Amino acid sequence: MTDSATNSRYFLTTPIYYVNARPHLGHAYSTIVCDAIARRKRALGIETWFLTGTDEHGQKIERSAEKAGRSPQEFADAISGEFSGLWQRLGISNDDFIRTTSERHKRGTQKLFTELRNRGFIYKGSYTGQYCVSDELYVDGPPGTVCPDCGRVTETVSEENYFFKLSAFERKLLEFYEANPDFMGPESTRREVISFVRGGLKDLSVSRTSFSWGIPVPGDEKHVIYVWLDALANYMTALGYGSDDPADQTRFAKFWPADLHLIGKEISRFHCVYWPAFLMAAGIPLPRAVRANGWLLFDQGKMSKSRGNIVRADTVQEVLGVDALRYFLLREIPFGQDGGFSFEALVQRYNGDLANGYGNLVSRVVNMVHKYFGGVLPEAGIPTAAEDALRESALCAIAAFGPEFDAMNFSEALKSLWSLVAETDGYLTANAPWKRPTDRPEAEHVLLQARVLATAAEAIRIITALVYPILPDAAAKVWLQLGQGEIADAAKNAFLTQISWGGLQAGTHFAEPAPLFPRAEKDAVARMQQIEEQNSLSVIEAAGGKAVSANGPVSAIEPVSVNEPALINEPVLKGHDFSRAVIATKNAGALAPEAKTNTKEAIMSEESAKQKSWDNAPVDSIGVQAQDEAWAYETVAQASAPVPTEPAAPTPAPPPVAEPQHITIDDFIKVDLRVAQILVAERIPKADKLLRLEVDLGYEKRQILAGIAQYYEPEKLVGRKIIIVANLAPRKMRGLESNGMLLAASLEGGAPVLAGFLEDVPLGARLK
Ligand code: MSP
Repeated sequence: MTDSATNSRYFLTTPIYYVNARPHLGHAYSTIVCDAIARRKRALGIETWFLTGTDEHGQKIERSAEKAGRSPQEFADAISGEFSGLWQRLGISNDDFIRTTSERHKRGTQKLFTELRNRGFIYKGSYTGQYCVSDELYVDGPPGTVCPDCGRVTETVSEENYFFKLSAFERKLLEFYEANPDFMGPESTRREVISFVRGGLKDLSVSRTSFSWGIPVPGDEKHVIYVWLDALANYMTALGYGSDDPADQTRFAKFWPADLHLIGKEISRFHCVYWPAFLMAAGIPLPRAVRANGWLLFDQGKMSKSRGNIVRADTVQEVLGVDALRYFLLREIPFGQDGGFSFEALVQRYNGDLANGYGNLVSRVVNMVHKYFGGVLPEAGIPTAAEDALRESALCAIAAFGPEFDAMNFSEALKSLWSLVAETDGYLTANAPWKRPTDRPEAEHVLLQARVLATAAEAIRIITALVYPILPDAAAKVWLQLGQGEIADAAKNAFLTQISWGGLQAGTHFAEPAPLFPRAEKDAVARMQQIEEQNSLSVIEAAGGKAVSANGPVSAIEPVSVNEPALINEPVLKGHDFSRAVIATKNAGALAPEAKTNTKEAIMSEESAKQKSWDNAPVDSIGVQAQDEAWAYETVAQASAPVPTEPAAPTPAPPPVAEPQHITIDDFIKVDLRVAQILVAERIPKADKLLRLEVDLGYEKRQILAGIAQYYEPEKLVGRKIIIVANLAPRKMRGLESNGMLLAASLEGGAPVLAGFLEDVPLGARLK
């Protein structure tokens, strides 16, 4: 995060969220990170504007609305309301919430489009490509390519479109990245973006005629503006770009350019290539920094609706409180990397760091000030070496926390602050103000109590001030207990600029102690799981039109995700009832990034636009149990009992069946077959038949247990490219989770021969 050039104002944004998927922890993660930054900036006296919102246009939303029997606007209203409602419940401190269907946004986006056209960067051209008439989408590939969505053969069509001269910005962008090394991060994002641009940029189609749910192109209303141009413009339209109102113009002049666009890593191309190019072309200053967060993983996959592996923030809030969630996300996941979420890890962190750590420390000290000094902070008196040491540590914590936080190393910042929590705890225990040794005179003991409690309380004050942006609720309670009043008022007065040792005055009246982080009960994990189960049940009912939610709002709409393959007309599935799943490989990874295509410029259909990764890969799909797995070499499927003892021997090929059972192309495309490379192969103790493999799919790594130990030496497998069924429901064996299945020919006697390729094939490539 680079500091604002002026240092006196700061504008930061989250991505605007699609209204197809209802909010889950993945969305909450990006928003919470921004909220913590915004709170710290404000408490440093920096005038801050924090923007979030929803992205509501596009063909998929149009279609999802149709399926739900609603107008697109009604549909968008319902889901957008879920996002804004959740942010309110979580106490997110955004200053504005932009919706791309709002008038102010439409006006500003049209202005940007016009500006680009007037400056000669948008021209009308025609596009020829493969089109699936049934699904109304462009598919990348040569004539004859099959639609990844419905399996029908595509047609070659030509369409008139507006194009943006992206090709003119290749060199300028590279020069810009060179001159502004802090513009994008983390390093992996920077490298990917630069190599993408170096690979060559082609002009970008920025209008569509195949659907109408979008912002009309000014003066040519049969076209709607490309969703990403529409979406990216939100960062300016929300500030007032395109408005004639002087107040809007002042706000825009004051806060633009943005200091930070915080995004998920999968959308860095849009923010680091297209967005700066649009702005350069329009003659508008570029944002100062774009930072990409990694993915929140759950059950080893990216948390997403279509995988059915989502957890909602409401669930955690209900059981442990919102601060627990904030702390976990920022402490547990080094920013920029992917990070696993599990209820177990959450409860462990909560109990260890919050309930037994900070919460317990505060409660001990505040209680003792009440017990021994009637709630009035005593004079600390003359410090001994122990107090000097704690003071030193607190000063170090102050010096370390800010820079770590501002560099977005939240986890490190918290780690170092929590050493001060531990040290203060240790200091209390070592001095035991609650226990008077028989040889210590009463008066001397009271002096010790005063010194120790006043010193510990001061350390708590510092910890609380620093951690306020991350634990706003808890910090507010502690601030009150320390007799410091409302922390929100302190934040308005830029209290973080004055944090130094010695701020607590003797004579301060402490408020009554109040519980901060009650220890999580043993059943906390089960409770959260149960709430999620109930929620998914209520979603199922919602899909059938009888929405009843035990927790949080459930609208009757259960939309289909835009950017991920979706369960059509099916609710989120939890547990293992995959029999009901209808998988659609919408937006499957077959669509390459447009700059790599052989057409003039691949039109980023709404579908492929949402295929947001760098290469073909991330088909985000829910595991689906193949109807007939016998054709594939199912290495672990035999062990279907919950606690398998020994993996079953490999299955020989099934005897030919009398009646050939045909499947349709629709059945076939349910199975997500992918190229993977074995990174690690090892035996599993006490399991003669199983090997534990770690495989790389290009877009993610995963663990697969394969019953091939009797036939393959693990060392010889490393580096080998294989084919896996990537969307098989995970299974647990010997306490290890298997995520996928290898394909192999099954020879007589059960010996498997792994399937592979003669040619070199990229990792993650899909087999069709
Ligand atoms: N609408 C576009 C963004 C346009 S911004 C001009 C979009 N929306 S999205 O809803 O699909 O995702 C938005 C963001 O949600 C991601 O970029 C990311 O920040 C966050 N996340 C959604 N799922 C996530 C995880 N599982 N983990 C971490 N963040 C995730 O893309």
